[in-house]
Amino acid sequence: MLLDIQNLNLKFHTSKGILHAIRDLSFHIKEGETLGIVGESGCGKSITNLALMGLLPDTAELTADKLEFEGKDLLSFNEKQWQGIRGSDIAMIFQDPMTALNPCFTVGYQIEETLELHRKDLSKEQRKEYVFELLDQVGIPAPRDRAKSYAHELSGGMSQRVMIAGAIACNPKLLIADEPTTALDVTIQDQILKLLKDIQEKNNMAMILVTHDLGVVAENADRIQVMYAGEVIESASSSSVIQSPKHPYTKGLLDSLPGNGSAGFRTPLSSIAGMVPDLRSRPSGCQFNPRCFKFQDDCSSNRPSLNSDSHQVSCFHPLSEG
Ligand SMILES: Nc1ncnc2c1ncn2[C@@H]1O[C@H](COP(=O)(O)OP(=O)(O)OP(=O)(O)O)[C@@H](O)[C@H]1O
Ligand SMILES: [Mg+2]
Repeated sequence: MLLDIQNLNLKFHTSKGILHAIRDLSFHIKEGETLGIVGESGCGKSITNLALMGLLPDTAELTADKLEFEGKDLLSFNEKQWQGIRGSDIAMIFQDPMTALNPCFTVGYQIEETLELHRKDLSKEQRKEYVFELLDQVGIPAPRDRAKSYAHELSGGMSQRVMIAGAIACNPKLLIADEPTTALDVTIQDQILKLLKDIQEKNNMAMILVTHDLGVVAENADRIQVMYAGEVIESASSSSVIQSPKHPYTKGLLDSLPGNGSAGFRTPLSSIAGMVPDLRSRPSGCQFNPRCFKFQDDCSSNRPSLNSDSHQVSCFHPLSEG
């Protein structure tokens, strides 16, 4: 097992009280596997990833029964140990390249910095050459010239490619792609996803692919994990989730895809009535119960948990096949 998480809880201490952002989160990822994480805005996708990068703010309180990467206990890591793993074994592509890239340095220099930190075996000259190689690998034309560019001189798609080049520079075992294509138009989005897939196959890299877009995960992920209000509510192979969703929320997400169901479209998730709960005052029982069309009394009096079937769902009244 590459990544093994059991009962992770994450609370933020805020001026307005404690916000229990992630509740009893468990999941795992094997080498080379792609896990798609979907769910509405605020359901905890990004903070889960930040926890895996050791980048949570000081106001966050993280506990877990297990948080292991390659058998190493990440909970016990100090900042120096995080620096050793972050950017090398676990790398991340952020949603917005313009904020993640530093405007003051050339993009080539920024990739070189990562190499300087983690690839001490390379000489300065070798590092420079490797930067050109990486830029070439992610499909940037004239990489020697482009390496001298600043982020603002590049298009959105090119900046995203630079971020990917930086993220794969040290052959990570796990790449976290947090909405890697949200800021891009659809044709560029497909190119970037194909590029990630190629790199993944070549390096047997595992990937967490976060997106609002069920079409994108359906095409690109082996498994899909649906999150709601900081909890996993359904998790199974992509085909099972898409073809026979068991949680009413997942069904709602799928129903909001364009009529033809074709993958690859950016889809608004607005067709589920109601709002995600305020995490400072959660509803009792199932977090989705105020919005659920299958609601029954037990849904608000008891809290469901994920079952242990291969198609996991956390629901007292799941949808049946077909
Ligand atoms: N530093 C913080 N302090 C307090 N609360 C936070 C902090 N960071 C995130 N949160 C809260 O944690 C919850 C999950 O946030 P997160 O950014 O992970 O959502 P997300 O699923 O990535 O959403 P999106 O799809 O919009 O990116 C939200 O309710 C958010 O308000
Ligand atoms: Mg996010």
